Amino acid sequence: MSEKLGIALIRGDGIGVDVADATIAVVDAAVAKAGLPALTYEEILAGAGYYKETGHDIAPGGEVRAGELDAIFLGAIGMPSVRHEDGTEIAPHLRLRDRYGLYAGVRPVKAYPNAPQRLADPRAAGIDMVILRESTEGLFFSAATHGRPNVHTDEEVCDTLRITRRTSEKLFHFGFRLAEKRKARGRPGKLTCVDKANVFNSMAFFRKIFKEIAPQYDGIEASYNYVDAQALDLIRKPWEFDVMVMENMFGDILSDLGGGLVGGMGMAACAEIGDENGLFQPAHGSAPDIMGQDKANPLAAVLSGALMLDYLAERSGNERWAEAAEMVESAVQKGFEANRLRPMEFGGDMGTKAVTNELLDLLG
Ligand SMILES: NC(=O)c1ccc[n+]([C@@H]2O[C@H](COP(=O)([O-])OP(=O)(O)OC[C@H]3O[C@@H](n4cnc5c(N)ncnc54)[C@H](O)[C@@H]3O)[C@@H](O)[C@H]2O)c1
Repeated sequence: MSEKLGIALIRGDGIGVDVADATIAVVDAAVAKAGLPALTYEEILAGAGYYKETGHDIAPGGEVRAGELDAIFLGAIGMPSVRHEDGTEIAPHLRLRDRYGLYAGVRPVKAYPNAPQRLADPRAAGIDMVILRESTEGLFFSAATHGRPNVHTDEEVCDTLRITRRTSEKLFHFGFRLAEKRKARGRPGKLTCVDKANVFNSMAFFRKIFKEIAPQYDGIEASYNYVDAQALDLIRKPWEFDVMVMENMFGDILSDLGGGLVGGMGMAACAEIGDENGLFQPAHGSAPDIMGQDKANPLAAVLSGALMLDYLAERSGNERWAEAAEMVESAVQKGFEANRLRPMEFGGDMGTKAVTNELLDLLG
């Protein structure tokens, strides 16, 4: 692969536009500092605003083009006031997950100094975990955007929770390798399978596959937790967890809980990785309540940008992209340590632009 890497850029709606711009600025600065060739961006129009204007949720050809580039970066998509006739929202990004088999939804949850700590226990300062959310099947299999038939009358609606061996095996291998990578960086090296195997056949199957794969990863401690108990434990003792792997809907819900534990959605970064493609976006939405006011915290997006740089390192085999990722992460860490990052989301005095400029300063 040539060193010149191209990114499909979908800014989307609301604060998605602002946090995407912030991310590009920070990522580009880190890439330049690492002495790498500048990334090129190809913008793909998509989202609720675009739908309202054109009747399409993504620019014609955009879905295919996004997959031809080296990675996809997305701000946020959706606006509660713009809906399809069936009441669901505009969400072409769900189709991207499906089309490109982006099964591994990586959602880091990390406490930073001077950022709000929602739990009184001092051990909450040590929260550093990852929620690995399967992102192509589970209870999102029949999500509205996929157009898969389900029982749908005015009397009854059924959605389908689908678990396949093929995707689950890939997901668990990804989870164990992620735990190994984190262990090499000083984390404990644990993978917890979060399910509801006591009640659902699909979840018992999920756990069975996890059990088959676990023995291949000697150095990683494998464990299980039911999702309801996991919700309890994420409040009671989140510092005890490292990587948790789960079905799509469970991951959707618990990753918001995780974001809340370390401040709010403005800290919730996300990578969605498949065999050939990767999509990077903050886990939050378009936040219509604060859009257009320079109030959004861009850090979730910026940290998703760091995940994208890490992915580019793996994809290109060039470790310097990982160095650029590390520069972004350490700018965020140092910025919080020195109290130089004070996002409005946490009652601070810094809007999107001020946080971005401070990060650029920290990157030197
Ligand atoms: N992946 C996506 O693009 C995605 C994800 C979730 C929701 N959505 C869409 O976004 C729209 C709004 O959804 P919602 O309100 O449920 O969720 P949201 O994540 O947009 O907002 C939830 C709350 O968190 C706050 N918030 C979110 N991100 C923030 C940030 N970076 N800085 C400061 N505060 C932040 C918002 O102000 C709001 O109070 C909907 O149309 C929804 O469908 C899109």
